[in-house]
Amino acid sequence: MPREIITIQAGQCGNSIGSQFWQQLCLEHGISQDGNLEDFATEGGDRKDVFFYQSDDTRYIPRAILLDLEPRVIHGIQTGPYKNIYNPENFHVPKDGGGAGNIWAMGFSAGENVYEEVMEMLDREADGSDSLEAFMLLHSIAGGTGSGLGSFLLEKLNDRFPKKLIQTYSVFPDMTSGSEVIVQPYNSLLALRRLTQNADSVVVLDNGALTRIAADRLHVQEPSLTQTNQLVSTVMCASTTTLRYPGYMHNDLVGIIASLIPTPRCHFLMTSYTPFTSDSISQGKAVRKTTVLDVMRRLLQPKNRMVSAMPTKQSCYISILNIIQGEADPTDVHKSLLRIRERKLATFIPWGPASIQVALTKKSPYIPMSHRVSGLMLANHTSVATLFERILKQYNVLRKRGAFLEQYKKVPPFTDSLDEFDESKAVVQDLIAEYKAAEQKDYLQTDASSEPHAQ
Ligand code: GTP
Repeated sequence: MPREIITIQAGQCGNSIGSQFWQQLCLEHGISQDGNLEDFATEGGDRKDVFFYQSDDTRYIPRAILLDLEPRVIHGIQTGPYKNIYNPENFHVPKDGGGAGNIWAMGFSAGENVYEEVMEMLDREADGSDSLEAFMLLHSIAGGTGSGLGSFLLEKLNDRFPKKLIQTYSVFPDMTSGSEVIVQPYNSLLALRRLTQNADSVVVLDNGALTRIAADRLHVQEPSLTQTNQLVSTVMCASTTTLRYPGYMHNDLVGIIASLIPTPRCHFLMTSYTPFTSDSISQGKAVRKTTVLDVMRRLLQPKNRMVSAMPTKQSCYISILNIIQGEADPTDVHKSLLRIRERKLATFIPWGPASIQVALTKKSPYIPMSHRVSGLMLANHTSVATLFERILKQYNVLRKRGAFLEQYKKVPPFTDSLDEFDESKAVVQDLIAEYKAAEQKDYLQTDASSEPHAQ
């Protein structure tokens, strides 16, 4: 039985990466721009129904809900080449809305107005599933809609569907260059609280790392958003291959999460992918040779991580799952794992198994690949906390100066007090402390790991 996943895309970034993701899924499963199965897509063996359902006229429709508070991006989707695949009832966008103005509070409070409509969409999609497993939220945490409305929905999803998993793909801002959204530290901190308390697993991507990787791989100084979003959709597709082409293990999301997240709060995952080639990215490079060992070694290189975390001496892996696609022989995998261990290429936490898990999966037969093997690493690494530290630091600077608070005070939950900020800061401080504690031998004996997950 399929374990269905309903995708929710919120805001400009969420909808842009979502539309790229659906395009790629259609190509991988041989689904045409109108949702029909292509004549050549006869192989079977894939599970299209995890992400799509079939309409009465047998077209494949994404289990997706598209939300925004301003029309531009969604309008682009509704007039683009894949406009016919979506269920027209699953869009929420005001005709002339001005967005959330990059203010988290505007997006969060807008949630109350859209609540009934969105819950109706979600209930309808949930009722149309045989065995719904999870919701997947796509958003950025720096603006107003994806961050604020996304936070609101995370809370409500927990209340309404307490037994379903919630996974997010969360795009963090580029914190190394000057803020593109001046209040992004406020928005990010407030969203981080909900990602900590209301999500089961968060795949962290940051625009600094994405731009750097796109520039390195494509040799362009300023990659376009389409190119960066192709990186993101490649990662999203690869991380869901074991669900869509099921084997013995990792064939549902709970299996993947259970193998990567031993303690509930340390649920922020990093990714690496290799090789990025022109098969999936416009202007991507060709690769000469890929072996399982090459791929697994490259996945461990910090420069390939899609998160600009700054590892410290104590940083270590809590867990790693490598998803290897293509012509990989299990003996090569075994040899590669031995080699990686001999060379001590990965340092693990002192309180758990120090092993890399590997899932070998099929590739889509409908997309010609120029390389034999490709790999995605999903890693739980304690250095992700350095990203949260940076957000906290930038937040403290803004907050100390009382900068830009007027916009927030105009809307709930800030009209009476700024407690929301202080509470979010405390949650993020605890999260950072939790990752620090996870680097210690006695972590499982300390309170930090045993406190119940705040859900
Ligand atoms: P409002 O504009 O306030 O209504 O909120 P929003 O959620 O629509 O804002 P947006 O998604 O634009 O959030 C801003 C952050 O998202 C910034 O860090 C942008 O760099 C990033 N961003 C916006 N669009 C994209 C995109 O297509 N791809 C990527 N990777 N990042 C994006």
